[in-house]
Amino acid sequence: MAFHHSSMLLLALLALAAPLALVMAGDPDILTDYVIPANSNADNITGDFFTFTGFRNATSMNMSMPMPNANFTVIKASLKEFPALNGQSVSYAMLMYPPGTVNPTHTHPRSAELLLVVNGALSVGFVDTANKLYTQDLATGDMFVFPKGLVHFQFNSGNQPAMALSAFGSAAAGLVSVPVTVFGSNIDDTVLAKSFKTDVPTIQKLKAGLTPPANKS
Ligand SMILES: *[C@@H]1O[C@H](CO)[C@@H](O)[C@H](O)[C@H]1NC(C)=O
Ligand SMILES: *[C@@H]1O[C@H](CO)[C@@H](O)[C@H](O)[C@H]1NC(C)=O
Ligand SMILES: *[C@@H]1O[C@H](CO)[C@@H](O)[C@H](O)[C@H]1NC(C)=O
Ligand SMILES: *[C@@H]1O[C@H](CO)[C@@H](O)[C@H](O)[C@H]1NC(C)=O
Repeated sequence: MAFHHSSMLLLALLALAAPLALVMAGDPDILTDYVIPANSNADNITGDFFTFTGFRNATSMNMSMPMPNANFTVIKASLKEFPALNGQSVSYAMLMYPPGTVNPTHTHPRSAELLLVVNGALSVGFVDTANKLYTQDLATGDMFVFPKGLVHFQFNSGNQPAMALSAFGSAAAGLVSVPVTVFGSNIDDTVLAKSFKTDVPTIQKLKAGLTPPANKS
């Protein structure tokens, strides 16, 4: 009888856990070791296919010199730039912050972000769904996790360049930029003015200040 009860309990727990597992899963599982692009065949897949060299310039940068671009820049190694990641549930981004630059408030809908400061220092923060802000000042070598889907930012408030490497638990973590999504997607001015409890001219000023949308991944 006791055994019977505990098996029932186990079944009930498994039934509860099944949808939970789906919710917590990363990218869909694949049934092959890796996914060959449609225009390739197994014969011409070599080590090159599994290699991404786009970080070479960034990693060989002289951090004592001004960065080549005065703006915040990102080099992504996600599914789009590195097709071998298809089905592997991982990706990287190299982030470069000249002094005084910010990676504006954004979210990654499909993954947490594990950011490692490889050069310089960064001030970072995210806001949870209870609207609580968590911030931290990171030194070279420090690592910070931005939980999946939450709004976050990084800021180089110092006078030295900073560089960080971010790992994602998805081959296509996605990027939703708060400023670009809200003010750069042609949402009606009146809707935004009411949403932000302000007037239409203020909304138009915010829209005008935006640079073109960043590449989506
Ligand atoms: C394999 O060959 C096809 C056709 O020649 C080409 O389009 C594709 O890019 C090649 N793939 C790799 C990984 O070299
Ligand atoms: C890397 O730097 C070299 C030399 O400055 C340049 O020619 C090349 O385009 C750069 N590559 C990338 C991917 O930025
Ligand atoms: C980096 O730049 C600094 C300042 O210009 C220079 O003194 C140093 O030799 C450079 N380091 C390398 C490895 O090129
Ligand atoms: C840097 O940002 C400014 C202001 O957003 C923009 O006008 C400029 O074109 C950017 N420069 C580069 C090299 O992307």
